Amino acid sequence: MKKRDRKDKMRDKGKEKACPQKRPAATSHKQRKRSSADKLAYKRLKKRMAATFALLGRELASGAVPQPQLVADFKADGQRMVAFPGRGEPHYTEFTSLCQQLAAAVEAGDIAAARTAHADLARLKKACHARYK
Ligand code: HEM
Repeated sequence: MKKRDRKDKMRDKGKEKACPQKRPAATSHKQRKRSSADKLAYKRLKKRMAATFALLGRELASGAVPQPQLVADFKADGQRMVAFPGRGEPHYTEFTSLCQQLAAAVEAGDIAAARTAHADLARLKKACHARYK
């Protein structure tokens, strides 16, 4: 393949990725106006959730049952998260249910079930971020 053809192909590939029709939900929510206070509140919340979620993951990986308070904090932040409209609402029910499963498993001292719930949350987070972030 000639150098110019390769360049064209790469440019087309980029265009395809940026095509808004491929990700309608991702673009439509961004088009709505949000106040900067709302954005900041969401950002702060998500940063805190990220720290708690990572800590929970590290504890579970080391074989420890996390402190129930840590899970309660994550769950409470999860409830705050789902009160924000237009940021992946179709997945809010599943998210809430997984937080519930995580909390129940930790409360029961069931590390295997807690790890499963944590991994499922990580998958959902990844899918949501890919689609709506
Ligand atoms: C373990 C669960 C999750 C964690 C720890 C997490 C963490 C984060 C973090 C750190 C950010 C970046 C914040 C920033 O710097 O601006 C973010 C953004 C975002 N998250 Fe999550 N997230 C989680 C689950 C989810 C789920 C389940 C959804 C959808 C249902 C979601 C939707 C979003 C969206 C839409 C943004 C971008 C907001 C914007 O820029 O307008 N997240 N999240």
